[in-house]
Amino acid sequence: MHKRILDKLICPNSGTTDLKLYSVELTRQDKSVTNLQDENIFPDDDVKSGIIYSSDKKYVYVICEYIPVLLNDTDQDLNHLNSIVTLLKDDLPSELADALQNTSNRIAAQHTSADGDWNREEMKYYDAAVDTEKQRIDMLKSIKTDNLWRIFIPRKQKMIRFLEKNCNGKWIFEIGCGNARTISRIFNPAEYSYNYIGTDISFKRLIVAKMAIPGSDFIQASALNIPVKDNFFDAAISFGMLHHLPRPTEAMNEVDKKLKHEGIFTLHEPVYTSRQFTEKQTAVVRKLFRTYEHSDHDNKINLKETTDTLEKLNYQILNISPYNSLFRVVYEAFMNRVYKSWDRNERLTKAVLAIDNILLNTVVKLSNKLGPQAITITSAKKNQTK
Ligand SMILES: C[S@@+](CC[C@H](N)C(=O)[O-])C[C@H]1O[C@@H](n2cnc3c(N)ncnc32)[C@H](O)[C@@H]1O
Repeated sequence: MHKRILDKLICPNSGTTDLKLYSVELTRQDKSVTNLQDENIFPDDDVKSGIIYSSDKKYVYVICEYIPVLLNDTDQDLNHLNSIVTLLKDDLPSELADALQNTSNRIAAQHTSADGDWNREEMKYYDAAVDTEKQRIDMLKSIKTDNLWRIFIPRKQKMIRFLEKNCNGKWIFEIGCGNARTISRIFNPAEYSYNYIGTDISFKRLIVAKMAIPGSDFIQASALNIPVKDNFFDAAISFGMLHHLPRPTEAMNEVDKKLKHEGIFTLHEPVYTSRQFTEKQTAVVRKLFRTYEHSDHDNKINLKETTDTLEKLNYQILNISPYNSLFRVVYEAFMNRVYKSWDRNERLTKAVLAIDNILLNTVVKLSNKLGPQAITITSAKKNQTK
């Protein structure tokens, strides 16, 4: 975590912005530097391990593998937390080591909450595929090369195009970024010169995300309790995230708090439809074509409820597009399996995309009319002071 984002963060328990850093190890211009107090850490230093603490030292949050764990007490996974506490404790000044131990004791004494249990399940589910370093390296390779044009093209055309205009120096965050595959491929912060913070509940996916976009910052956080400053961010992104929450509309309210006037909120969600298949059949299709990784917690996103929530929050809808179809899923899976590196051949790329375009304008158009499988919505927060 770069020191420069510290003043953009808030304590997920108390909401205070009065936070300090202690670095056990950080990277400064490719060199490793150990044991630095807050005042000796530079804005561009990237803290690999250490702690963030409220200045009264009541709340302490660990940083491990560059990822700060900014979860409130009831969302913490005690085993995971304690494994990091053990690594850090001996390297902290005694006063901070005590504060960290007190935090861990306090969390151990808490009753777990229903939301906390839900979140820990999600962490477990999404951590599992990238549990080992080898799995993380393999995933990194695949996010750098897998050609998911069926997802990337609509995300670029219907969502990112609203963010990339004048994005230089702007602050954008993502909820449920996972391994950040879309941002790393189609809206890379280094290329577009904006500040990006990715948040997710899965710590290990975030390690992969950090490997994919090392210059950016990633925070382990719940989308229902986003530990970043209110009224500060220029845009928020959510790709296939809201349906993983117990209360998706609550996350939309939470995102709204973080955006400034005219801030953009862009989201992409599967929407519930009984159009083509029963739920059982859908599960089989997903397994067959590995279209989407779904946990057991999937909620049904209702399109009308989502747009009503945005309107109630005073957002202007800039674009709403139905998206996805089984035909493209099959076609993409077929191409990526039969000839994985098709996109390195310019003529073939043109041909593949031309066929995709034909599909888009024929069967997909027709099937979208019967009820889309997914939707992208981009909206802007109206300026109430005008
Ligand atoms: C289907 S994946 C989408 C990942 C990524 N946005 C993408 O498009 O590849 C859903 C993501 O939501 C995350 N998630 C689930 N519950 C969450 C919560 N309460 N807060 C934040 N992220 C959560 C999961 O860890 C997972 O990375």
